[in-house]
Amino acid sequence: LKKISTGKNDKGLKLYDPGYLNTAPVRSAISYIDGDEGILRYRGYPIEELAEKSTFTEVSYLIMYGSLPSESQLAEWEFAISQHSAVPQGILDIIQSMPHDAHPMGVLVNAMSALSVFHPDANPALRGLDIYDSKQIRDKQITRVIGKITTIAAAVYLRMAGRPPVLPSNHLSYTENFLYMLDSLVLTFNPISTVHTFSGNRSYKPNPRLTRVLDIIFILHAEHEMNCSTSAVRHLASSGVDVYTAIAGAVGALYGPLHGGANEAVLKMLSEIGTVQNIPEFIEGVKARKRKLSGFGHRVYKNYDPRAKVLRKLAEEVFSIVGRDPLIEVAVALEKVALSDEYFIKRKLYPNVDFYSGLIYRAMGFPPEYFTVLFAIPRMAGYLAHWRESLDDPDTKILRPQQLYLLYITCFTGKWFTLG
Ligand code: ACO
Repeated sequence: LKKISTGKNDKGLKLYDPGYLNTAPVRSAISYIDGDEGILRYRGYPIEELAEKSTFTEVSYLIMYGSLPSESQLAEWEFAISQHSAVPQGILDIIQSMPHDAHPMGVLVNAMSALSVFHPDANPALRGLDIYDSKQIRDKQITRVIGKITTIAAAVYLRMAGRPPVLPSNHLSYTENFLYMLDSLVLTFNPISTVHTFSGNRSYKPNPRLTRVLDIIFILHAEHEMNCSTSAVRHLASSGVDVYTAIAGAVGALYGPLHGGANEAVLKMLSEIGTVQNIPEFIEGVKARKRKLSGFGHRVYKNYDPRAKVLRKLAEEVFSIVGRDPLIEVAVALEKVALSDEYFIKRKLYPNVDFYSGLIYRAMGFPPEYFTVLFAIPRMAGYLAHWRESLDDPDTKILRPQQLYLLYITCFTGKWFTLG
């Protein structure tokens, strides 16, 4: 801690805070977390209640505008989203041109950043003009991103299977339309079930119970205050860059295995462990710091992540439809061992949102490298709400943290050392 200025323009104290553990660069009314009690609320509503009673489109409206929509507001919101669900051919071409074995999140980052060049209202040169800053333009950009993300995500998925993109259908609900655009391939990939087969035609209708499960998963992932990728949105937007570029940067942050990429890492970890008998050896490896227990621990939650509780129940619902995944036994036993081990108790490490979501996605037939894309789809709501809130906040400034300069000098031994 260092006092940096005491003059007329006193800037107060400079705080050395790696990882921003104690720094709140913004004020926000969008979501609330009590990490000690395991509470998450969107605009005052408990996550459990929203997961039980609402749909993803209702919740995304709530996150964006602060109250649940009336019937007519919801109809208007859903209509606007569906009107924006078509994606420019140039972006579909970009997706198709990526190497066939490219990671879907890498492809998604590229496709999202391309939105800024295909939509002239993103040009920062227009800043200050109505075409850039009006509320109508902002609302259009919001529904554009929420509308297009599922079509882009589906095209990314189909590219992995060597198939061309499918046009969205305006007659289906948001989540149903997403599954429809995957053209039933999801269930074809299903490694644990033979219940579903590839229909190969446009009459494909996603299973309504699985659709509802995915809709709830979307609700659970829609917003989570100043996590790594949402802070990236705020950071990029503070420079005045357009919303699409800010969101593409956030999707890049989400890709990381310590953030949204953890759900993919969990599944790989469970597959490596293989059976319940191998858990003690694996746990010893974690305690010896050879690796982390993926899907455990959180910067804010020092208790059970409330989203993980809902997901654990949802996993059983999915298994009742498609068959039981043997890896769930490994996951449940792993959780039990970890939660009774002094190493995890002392550090307050509990399952987070990524611990059970991967098992559900796998049961639905999604390949692990696609899991983080499924996280990115609903998180657009949170990113956009933070972007919108930051634009309306009179305190918003360009985000520009400071550093503590380290003076490197060489002594006669020729070695470097620092004076901090
Ligand atoms: N496995 C083993 N040990 C862990 C784990 C873990 N998953 N998470 C934290 N720890 C240990 C650390 O080694 C550290 O121990 P120490 O004090 O003896 O050095 C202590 O617990 C505190 O951990 P930090 O890394 O300081 O906690 P931080 O808040 O910086 O990190 C994070 C949080 C990144 C989520 C971390 O818990 C982690 O890496 N978890 C695994 C990856 C994961 O599941 N990420 C998804 C998070 S949810 C999301 O982003 C959607």
